[in-house]
Amino acid sequence: MLRYLTAGESHGESLACILEGLPAGLAVSPIDIRRELSRRRAAPGRSARQKKETDSFKVLSGMNRGVTTGAPVAILIPNAAAGKISPSYVPRPGHADLPGMLKYGLDAALVRERASARHTACVSALGAFALRLLAETGARFASRVVRLSMTENPSPEEARELIARAAADGDTLGGVFELICSGLPAGLGSHVHHDRRLGARLGAALLGINGIKGLEIGGGFDLASWKGTLAARDRRVSGGLDGGMTNGGDLVLRCAMKPVPGVEAGAPSFDARSGKPAISRSATSDVTAVYAAAVVAEHAAALELAGAMVEKFGGDTMSEIKERVRLWRKKTEKLIGR
Ligand SMILES: Cc1cc2nc3c(=O)[nH]c(=O)nc-3n(C[C@H](O)[C@H](O)[C@H](O)COP(=O)(O)O)c2cc1C
Repeated sequence: MLRYLTAGESHGESLACILEGLPAGLAVSPIDIRRELSRRRAAPGRSARQKKETDSFKVLSGMNRGVTTGAPVAILIPNAAAGKISPSYVPRPGHADLPGMLKYGLDAALVRERASARHTACVSALGAFALRLLAETGARFASRVVRLSMTENPSPEEARELIARAAADGDTLGGVFELICSGLPAGLGSHVHHDRRLGARLGAALLGINGIKGLEIGGGFDLASWKGTLAARDRRVSGGLDGGMTNGGDLVLRCAMKPVPGVEAGAPSFDARSGKPAISRSATSDVTAVYAAAVVAEHAAALELAGAMVEKFGGDTMSEIKERVRLWRKKTEKLIGR
């Protein structure tokens, strides 16, 4: 079982995270971790804050000379933008502010601190370990934005233009991104219980990312209009999962992300102290978080898949896992080609 916890707030001193259940013998370099952190931080459309963040981190435990030991991996990620938070009693509609204020008795500014997506830097740092584990067993990840606001498959130039226009309007953009993982062995996950189905596990991981509002697996919502005769012949239906298990095909997932609600343009709200109408405003938001979320989603999905890999192939060391994957592929390749 692979599990992780994150802690930390947007403007707190540091983020902290622990990944437990990794086998020993997985080589992960500081370059691997920095690359994944910077893919997230420097994605198109991000706010000025990201220029302040340095992607510095410290691995506190679980590694010896760049290789995992089997002990929990703990990482500290200092916040360059740490500092005092001025209280705000005007909740932003479409954010955790109001339900969080009611639930925990905090002002809106304190709720924002943990509800912020800053903690997803932890997912990216730990995702570097999951991506390495998957790569060692022959699986590769890729992600791409397939819709930015109303534009399908935006080129980098189109995206730049859309982002610049939204920034000039003080507005934000949502979109859809696609994740593809190829080279996964068949048989990860299980059909036997709802919480062991790999689609459900990936769904929880991806819908757990701030702002993700929809998930499609393979043919997704389009499948509602297909006929069964076609569905039985076309591999795009499954998106790499049948009955809650990998089937040896490419895993294809799509996520819809909402635009960050309100922000600079302002949104009608109220002052929680007086109950009187007020406008909530923030000038520090990402113009679009879709590109960064695609990277975080790769990492969140990779952590889930690495967990499923460790469960299926067991082993306390990477060499045990790799040998078992090799034998499994040999056994299954006659039937499914890998
Ligand atoms: C990588 C990433 C970056 C984000 N950046 C911002 C941001 O700059 N400002 C903001 O208000 N929300 C940002 N969000 C989205 C909000 O966290 C999200 O809209 C909010 O949590 C409410 O969405 P929910 O109801 O899905 O939790 C970001 C999300 C992700 C994944």
